[in-house]
Amino acid sequence: MQLKPFMLDAWLDQYEHDIEFDLGASTGPTWTVNDILALADDETRHRFLNHNLVYSRPAGADSLREAIAEMQGVPIEAVQIMTGASEALVALMWLAAEPGANVIIPLPGYAPFAALPESLGLETRFYRVRRENGFRIDPDEIKRLADSKTKLILVNSPHHPTGATISDGEMEALHDFSAERGIQLVSEEVYHPIYHGRQTKSLARLPHATVISDLSKAFSLPGVRTGWMIEHNARRRQQYWTARAYFTVSNATTAEILSEIAIRKRDVVLGRAQETATRNLKLLESFMATHRDVLGWIPPQGGMTAFPWLVSGESARPFCQAATEHGILLAPGDCFDAPSHFRLGFAAAGDNFSKALDRFGEFVKSWSAKMVTA
Ligand SMILES: Cc1ncc(COP(=O)(O)O)c(C=O)c1O
Repeated sequence: MQLKPFMLDAWLDQYEHDIEFDLGASTGPTWTVNDILALADDETRHRFLNHNLVYSRPAGADSLREAIAEMQGVPIEAVQIMTGASEALVALMWLAAEPGANVIIPLPGYAPFAALPESLGLETRFYRVRRENGFRIDPDEIKRLADSKTKLILVNSPHHPTGATISDGEMEALHDFSAERGIQLVSEEVYHPIYHGRQTKSLARLPHATVISDLSKAFSLPGVRTGWMIEHNARRRQQYWTARAYFTVSNATTAEILSEIAIRKRDVVLGRAQETATRNLKLLESFMATHRDVLGWIPPQGGMTAFPWLVSGESARPFCQAATEHGILLAPGDCFDAPSHFRLGFAAAGDNFSKALDRFGEFVKSWSAKMVTA
């Protein structure tokens, strides 16, 4: 068994810790423990400071599952807590890994979507989220890839890294298509509900879908490592519980309480992320218009990342490398099998984004001047 290198995380880990302007991150404005505790009532703060550092339950603390169930409009039994969406992906691919089976996943996409099944010997079939097609997630392309050996179809909306979304109607049609064929439909929704165009609904409402979500992206609390699955099928749920108990046993109790506070106060936490993302995306729009001779883009419909490209068509890795020398971190598109692109996170820099764009603009100008004279 072989896991291929995680190019994106290797790149980020190399630069993220001492870069001046982080436009490489895929999250939003940050929070401290103090900030989150300030959102809680006295009783919860007291519970946080005095709870025992024991194992939590493999399914997750009851009160956290209750908060998620209420937010997602599902019964509490449908909620399985995981260590990030990452662990949910491992569990799903692990359980799908039968001889001869295939999984259908997006390209570009978050690297583990492909690396995990490939490492387990599953065949990976990719539907393309192409810029020539306006980054449309095409349900017909997904359906054409499916056959009797397909175990799982994964749809990530809002999509990372493009910010594309798929409509509720198209998702419902995919749900029915998958259910008729006994294929598991996985809705990876870590950026829900951050939208810049049409709002779409969580697939938690549909009986045969499996939802993966977390507190890392839309909530921008990746440090709590809280993820969850919504599953209406009791047999599958039992499998996730078992996978969970084998893989990591439970989440950290401290993180579970902080997560519960953030979910109960989601109007504040998500509100801040949406406000930051909306404001910064406007700034990015005018930036991209100014630099359209060098950079192309399709504005994201949701989430906190955009996936621009160099109009010259060359690999963006040297561009991203040179940007780090100007204090700007981006993520090269070859980490997503799309070399002329780069990922730009527009919400993590928060109020610093305008300054970051000024610096990035100077860099783009110096880069294109160099290219003209080269
Ligand atoms: C689409 C997507 N899913 C899952 C993850 C991992 O999330 P978590 O922090 O919940 O493990 C990421 C992180 O970048 C992501 O972009």
